[in-house]
Amino acid sequence: MPHIAAEEFTGRLLDWAQKQGRHDLPWQQNPTPYSVLVSEIMLQQTQVTTVVPYFHRWLHTFPTAQALAAAHEDDVMAIWQGLGYYSRARNLHKAAKYVVEQCDGHFPNDLKGLEAIPGVGRYTSGAVMSFAYDDYGPIVDGNVRRFFCRLFGVEGQPLSSAVSKRLWQLAEYYTPTTNNRRFAQGLLDMGATLCTPKSPDCARCPFAPDCVAKQQDRINVLPTPKPKKVTPTKPGEFGWCQQGERLLLVKRPDNGIWGGLWCLPELNENRIAEPAKPIGEFKHTFSHYKLAASVYSVQEHELEWQTEPGLESQWFELTRLDSIGLPKPIKTFIMAMEGS
Ligand code: ADE
Repeated sequence: MPHIAAEEFTGRLLDWAQKQGRHDLPWQQNPTPYSVLVSEIMLQQTQVTTVVPYFHRWLHTFPTAQALAAAHEDDVMAIWQGLGYYSRARNLHKAAKYVVEQCDGHFPNDLKGLEAIPGVGRYTSGAVMSFAYDDYGPIVDGNVRRFFCRLFGVEGQPLSSAVSKRLWQLAEYYTPTTNNRRFAQGLLDMGATLCTPKSPDCARCPFAPDCVAKQQDRINVLPTPKPKKVTPTKPGEFGWCQQGERLLLVKRPDNGIWGGLWCLPELNENRIAEPAKPIGEFKHTFSHYKLAASVYSVQEHELEWQTEPGLESQWFELTRLDSIGLPKPIKTFIMAMEGS
């Protein structure tokens, strides 16, 4: 097993948690399985400071699983309004109904029983065991992943099944059978307040002498960073239709890229005739793809069958283009053409 003995790890973490951990979070006061479930679901994708007022409002409005189960869905959604990821609210509602209808109104008090509640996975059932019952409940969330990957030098994508399996093994191994509430909060606090993603406070970390990432000076590459997304490149073809000092522009449809802006007419990909050579090219990076654009010289009568029908088009003086809303790469391209 790993290089730190279980009693040693637990002792050091509990000691740190008592001195340096967070003790005044609202869900730490008089925790019940219901209040822990509510807070953990809220905290899944939302920061502590955002959750706090919602947590108070929720428990004020639906103080028990019974009250929540009996509520109308519209009222449930109204209280969640603004927290985002609304399926979480619907799941909590379902969870309360499940506990009332299938469990006689009593939350299960074992990991498997808790995991049978709709919307409750391995992490949440461990959190309820620890925080509500002060009992054995291993937890692995983003904070624990980062802390463990660094401390134990776990390589690989933290969310991959192989790494997840290893991290859960570690959590199961190190989770004690007493002081679970303090242990679990300490584990989360370690990742949230000391072993942070960018500049962890190793000087104050009781595990620094044993930390593989620290020893190997690899804090920045453990946990293994997500591979950079490769953005696909899509070709695009635009028409340059000029008469004298005037250029023909087309208003983009409201949906899609550059919605509502004036633009060089985009040529239809189904057009038959392919002009021999583009008169120019430009590239632009959007959030999801790169556009590799080619611009072809076209006559006005050709545009009718080459572009999307029904779009508004207008001739603009080349000297007046400053005053209209053009996409930046189009404007840059036109300026370059004028200059050439
Ligand atoms: N994030 C998830 N659970 C938490 C908790 N109990 N306290 C603080 N942050 C958390």
